[in-house]
Amino acid sequence: MARCDELARVSATPGAIERVYLSPEHARVNRLAAEWMRGIGMSPRQDAAGNQLGRIEPLGGDRDTPALMLGSHLDTVPDAGRFDGIVGVLMALEVVRLLRVGGEQGASGMQRAHVPLPFALEVVAFSDEEGTRFGKALLGSSAAAGQWNDAWWSLTDADGTTLREAFREFGLDPGRIGEAARRPEELVGYLEAHIEQGPELDERGESLAVVSSIASARRFQVVVEGEARHAGGTPYERRRDALLGASEAALAIERICRGEHHVIGTVGQLEAFPGAVNIVPGEARFSLDLRGEFDGTRDAVWSSISRELDEIMGGRRLRWRAREVHSAPAVFCAPLLQDVVREGILSTLPPGADDPAVIFSRAGHDGMAMSSVAEVGMLFLRNPDGISHHPDEAVSLGDVALGIRALAESVLQLAADRA
Ligand code: GLV
Ligand code: MN
Ligand code: MN
Repeated sequence: MARCDELARVSATPGAIERVYLSPEHARVNRLAAEWMRGIGMSPRQDAAGNQLGRIEPLGGDRDTPALMLGSHLDTVPDAGRFDGIVGVLMALEVVRLLRVGGEQGASGMQRAHVPLPFALEVVAFSDEEGTRFGKALLGSSAAAGQWNDAWWSLTDADGTTLREAFREFGLDPGRIGEAARRPEELVGYLEAHIEQGPELDERGESLAVVSSIASARRFQVVVEGEARHAGGTPYERRRDALLGASEAALAIERICRGEHHVIGTVGQLEAFPGAVNIVPGEARFSLDLRGEFDGTRDAVWSSISRELDEIMGGRRLRWRAREVHSAPAVFCAPLLQDVVREGILSTLPPGADDPAVIFSRAGHDGMAMSSVAEVGMLFLRNPDGISHHPDEAVSLGDVALGIRALAESVLQLAADRA
């Protein structure tokens, strides 16, 4: 928990937490994570996409021993909490410390007790899960999964810096991005602990849950074009107010999504141009973040939204277009990893306790990208009041302690299964 506080102090915004991809803050937290990895006997390295990794071999293992990857991400949204992603990376480090996979040098120089594992352990701190800087989420894990798309190099941040330029400024070589890619045979699986980012566990009064799947997501940037005119001189019937079209669109998106079980849409950014008090907005831009438990229902909702936007904009003599900036299919956690997470959680409960909750994640996670190269499993921690992507985001010390024990036990269960 002290390390969560320490990482929270590494921020681009004084008094708030903001740490985006390829920023000086990203470099600083990678250095801290590397130091902590070294402290528990792991060999740290930063990969070609700026993800920070640490690795520890099992006794008798070598660099070619397949690894179980544990971790999450260290980047944040603007004005973030201190646990989303972060606590999962730190829990992974604690699990490695608890298991002391490689043994430990005792005072006599002899290896002390260790847990024999049939795989290496890697801890990963992914560098861009949120997509805050370039709009495209999961850049770090997509590189690790070998899913990099060269079209992304021309994405720009709010200052017009391209992703390619940002790589160079950070000291990374865009030409070597392929070196971040992992091969399926190198990985036993990817296991991530994360706060729930919703209220289900809090409402149930439970600490931990098995994650069954991660919601599919699509993100769009929508532009509405009207005509800028004098705010005083233009009667209503002559206006083509782009902001009113966008506002009506945001309300329609809420109405459509409310009507569809397990699909949720959010307009999180809305801007009017030229943006003056005395000009009817000639252009408006807004973002749409759409999530669904299943790809098909999510896509059907997008079709309904598109039809509705045609109607709204047509009625107001506006034009609209949408650019898709992110798309990720729903990912189902591997049955074996769900089982070991369930066993891990059960090991923290009294004998005879009911099975832990199984919930689907409405939030996105690096496992979405990693699923193309490894089996994925996730453990959720209770998130009091379900508040996340907000400075009040919280997790209790007790739940984190249980989560670490459960995650360590999950690793042991997986080891037993593969032995
Ligand atoms: C990441 O937190 C996301 O789900 O947007
Ligand atoms: Mn997040
Ligand atoms: Mn996250």
